[in-house]
Amino acid sequence: MAEDSILEIFNRHVKRNGVFKNRDALSPHYIPSNLPYREEQVKELSETVAPILSGRKPENVFIYGKTGTGKTVVTRYVLKRLGEFAKEREIPVNTVYINCRIHNTRSSVFIKIGRELLPDDNFLGLSTAYIYERILGKVREADIRLMVVLDEIDKLKGISETVYALNRANDELEKGSISIIGISNVLTLKDSLDPRTKSTLCQREMIFPPYNAEGLRKILEDRAKEGFREGAVSDGAIALAAAYAARQSGDARYALQLLLRAGDIAEEEGASAVTEEHVEKAKERVEEDIILEMIEALPEQEQILLLAMAKLVLAKKGQKTLGSGEVVITSGEAYEAYSKLARELGKDPVSDRWFREYISELAMYGILNVVQAGKGFRGNTRIIKLLFSPVKIADVLQRVLVA
Ligand SMILES: Nc1ncnc2c1ncn2[C@@H]1O[C@H](COP(=O)(O)OP(=O)(O)OP(=O)(O)O)[C@@H](O)[C@H]1O
Ligand SMILES: [Mg+2]
Repeated sequence: MAEDSILEIFNRHVKRNGVFKNRDALSPHYIPSNLPYREEQVKELSETVAPILSGRKPENVFIYGKTGTGKTVVTRYVLKRLGEFAKEREIPVNTVYINCRIHNTRSSVFIKIGRELLPDDNFLGLSTAYIYERILGKVREADIRLMVVLDEIDKLKGISETVYALNRANDELEKGSISIIGISNVLTLKDSLDPRTKSTLCQREMIFPPYNAEGLRKILEDRAKEGFREGAVSDGAIALAAAYAARQSGDARYALQLLLRAGDIAEEEGASAVTEEHVEKAKERVEEDIILEMIEALPEQEQILLLAMAKLVLAKKGQKTLGSGEVVITSGEAYEAYSKLARELGKDPVSDRWFREYISELAMYGILNVVQAGKGFRGNTRIIKLLFSPVKIADVLQRVLVA
């Protein structure tokens, strides 16, 4: 390789006039300094948790609203402020944020709380009851007022037991307290809870409405100020991203992802500002990102099934040297490939009945579709078609399952 081309590669990376000032400010984990169109929710949640500062136990709160309506960010924002305020005044407030998609059992919730309160202890291999006692002991001893956030609580197995145990602690504590903030985007969750859990968790309820295009535009404008150089995003680009996200049921996450991706594309193209065209191009990438993220979050058996399908499609495509006919996969072939791969990965394949169940679930998500095979096939053979790039599916799932 000529020295010139190496220089060119290195030069592209020191290029200082890209569009971003702080790309992180557009990432999902960033907590911005203000939250437009959520002022009321910030105020209400602050009022709800504030009694903790005078030693009273805040009511438990249940927050719900569609995806991307700011539930997580508002909660983190308020608790961050609460933590800072309490720390300055040496009030023993502790907040533990738990994402139940990751910590999805009662015992892993308790381990997470235990680790935050007692960072020097090792909880591995201990019984849940013992960890619970250790947590209570610490709360009592240091008179801790604890706020536990159970985000995406719908993913928690054993919601009732967890909520019950955390709440019961208050009866056993002479000093200190534990309050719960439960968050979910599953609107039917509340009604699926048993009456006792429901009344405990929903002492207070907050509903986050979806954003409209105007709200999304303001959110993007503010985040763009933190993330992009001055003048590096056109108003048209922001308005367009907001309009697209408004159509996606007012999802601010989608709006931000669009803007972030549009920025990446602008940088790749060496443009000095993000335009509507970049947003258009970003749309495709974001939609792909969303599907890949969803695939990454699927249950393991469904992932194995999908990976087997993707490999089968790729193998069949490789065999096709003539004609442009589509790759046809029958349910029988798919089941066989899935069972084989499951065994290779050291898992027991599920029965045919469950396999069908998984196939319909994946079809519901729009990752594949199923049609009854016509003439020339046996009885109730079905044809399964992947609707998303097998190469990309295989890429992600190899990493998740095999690596
Ligand atoms: N009012 C706002 N101002 C600035 N950024 C916001 C606002 N509302 C949401 N966001 C941003 O949009 C993204 C999605 O918000 P958030 O994660 O809080 O959604 P959510 O309601 O928790 O969604 P889900 O139910 O999918 O978890 C985050 O990056 C967040 O920072
Ligand atoms: Mg959330």
